Amino acid sequence: MTTGQGSSWLFDEFAHAGDEHLDPAYVATYDRKAGTDPTADVALLRDLGLDARATLVDLGAGTGTFALAAAQFSGSVIAVDVSTAMLASLRAKVERLGSSNVTCVRAGFLTYQHPPGTADFVYSRNALHHLPDFWKALALERIAAMLRSGGALLLRDLVFSFAPGDAASTIEAWLAAAPTTADRGWTRVELETHLREEYSTYSWLLESMLERSGFEITNVSHSPSRVFSAYTAVKR
Ligand SMILES: C[S@@+](CC[C@H](N)C(=O)[O-])C[C@H]1O[C@@H](n2cnc3c(N)ncnc32)[C@H](O)[C@@H]1O
Repeated sequence: MTTGQGSSWLFDEFAHAGDEHLDPAYVATYDRKAGTDPTADVALLRDLGLDARATLVDLGAGTGTFALAAAQFSGSVIAVDVSTAMLASLRAKVERLGSSNVTCVRAGFLTYQHPPGTADFVYSRNALHHLPDFWKALALERIAAMLRSGGALLLRDLVFSFAPGDAASTIEAWLAAAPTTADRGWTRVELETHLREEYSTYSWLLESMLERSGFEITNVSHSPSRVFSAYTAVKR
């Protein structure tokens, strides 16, 4: 299904990006707050075949820490995000580093258009939870359509691998472990907002969506806190 803009029933992903991601002041603090180290995921992609001929799409690329690291080993990287503030930060880095194989595109899971079957890898970290589950399933079908057969999706997100009956105790333990200041992580208040207003889902739902979208899940890792999951999923 093509989910373009223009019909009133369509989810407006540009308006549901997380208000903070649209705020240049927040974006300016993002890298320090996130403290992202892309090393392990870049190494995993290289093990899976990322090389100078490969096309990699990063959906919800944010300030581009991963996209820029992966670009050193890729043919081309397309960094996609709905936020103009995130993309401005990313474009500034691309210019500073002279990363000529990185293209920045303002679009999202539901609107980014990629020639069918031509991407070797799709990467997405901590972004898919901005879509409700109905739209996640459509987004995953769109990702499968971008990838060539045998291409891989690396999906990392806030995903709940606890049973619904354990929600209260697991969530409370997660919130209790949050940092108290916002400069080096997500505080309890920020995590509470995530829980109330965004769309993290259960691992068993997400895994079913992946499989129904034409992926084989070849690796999954759930964090000990049961609130993050990392998937490698290969397009059948
Ligand atoms: C928490 S940040 C993660 C950024 C980056 N992937 C990282 O790991 O640091 C979430 C990103 O998803 C973007 N985003 C939100 N909704 C989106 C959508 N529907 N399609 C693509 N990106 C989206 C936001 O603008 C933001 O840059």
